[in-house]
Amino acid sequence: MKNKDDILSPLPAPEETSRMESALRPSSLDEFVGQARLKENLKVFIQAAKNRREPLDHCLFYSPPGLGKTTLSYILAREMGVNIKVTSGPVLSKPGDLAAMLTTELAEGDILFIDEIHRLNASVEEALYPVMEDFVFFINTGQGPGATTLKLAVPRFTLVGATTRSGLLTGPLRDRFGIVFNLGFYGEDEIAQILARSARILGSRADKPALELIARRSRGTPRIANRLLKRVRDFADVRADGNITTEVTAAAMTSLEIDSEGLDNLDRRILTVMAENFGGGPVGIETLAVAVSEETDTLTDVIEPFLMQAGFLKRTTRGRVLTAKAAAHIGFKLSRQAELL
Ligand SMILES: Nc1ncnc2c1ncn2[C@@H]1O[C@H](COP(=O)(O)OP(=O)(O)O)[C@@H](O)[C@H]1O
Ligand SMILES: [Mg+2]
Repeated sequence: MKNKDDILSPLPAPEETSRMESALRPSSLDEFVGQARLKENLKVFIQAAKNRREPLDHCLFYSPPGLGKTTLSYILAREMGVNIKVTSGPVLSKPGDLAAMLTTELAEGDILFIDEIHRLNASVEEALYPVMEDFVFFINTGQGPGATTLKLAVPRFTLVGATTRSGLLTGPLRDRFGIVFNLGFYGEDEIAQILARSARILGSRADKPALELIARRSRGTPRIANRLLKRVRDFADVRADGNITTEVTAAAMTSLEIDSEGLDNLDRRILTVMAENFGGGPVGIETLAVAVSEETDTLTDVIEPFLMQAGFLKRTTRGRVLTAKAAAHIGFKLSRQAELL
């Protein structure tokens, strides 16, 4: 299962959310590796807002897990010199929860970060529209003929939303964000740079080739890279003299069953099931999820984005298809028909 306990899961493990992630999380845009265009644009928007002494426009960050959405939200607050309040779609279960946050916790210019914003329930989302547009919150009191609507002014703040896919948001909500950014997977050189910084912070000596080896197996995802680094460091401490060398790293990867392409057992199982049970596809995502005993959402949001970007899977109108690269990787002969898709 690609759950929070898996070494290659892009989702945070519970202890990481607090300890490791805060230690390794970059705190300024200059420390934030990669995503060059996004950073350049953000710098302009931040400067412009500061010059006008206005809050930043509402921002939406979307990307698969582990690519830096939460990190960027904290950086925004720091660069703007404002406070950030953190909540999430499932936590704001009714409009009253939102009203309480807006009126008691936020000051002018502050940032309200709503993680998993696609999981807001409809009544909260609707209450959010006038808040985002005009900084007013409408409270309905009473029922029937005696019902009235109170209008409550809220401080001018910046809403920062994070989601794994922008397509999960309703149109009206997406349209109310002035700034929308998609974070892509990181290149191996960028991941290696992140790893070098993390090794320094963790106080570990690491060879450059060893870091490159870890980078190649990190699925373009900083969260996974940092987690692998910590596990490799364990092997280096226990089985060697503490230095992270290529030998130690390669041995650690073998022990962790992570292959040369950064795939773990579940990835290989998915590819193998596609090959052996479905002739390489096309196979519908729901059918595939059942066949490998995983949730459809886990496949689409967590596992599949990397497999597609790395060229192992293709999405077609008729379902998912194995690529020739995947077939070669797991040693399967695709039929000509599957290859032509
Ligand atoms: N661009 C980056 N540069 C350096 N480290 C990063 C970067 N993006 C993410 N990280 C690291 O990866 C971890 C996970 O990032 P996070 O912002 O929590 O991802 P998301 O919110 O998209 O799931 C962070 O704690 C941070 O250490
Ligand atoms: Mg996050």
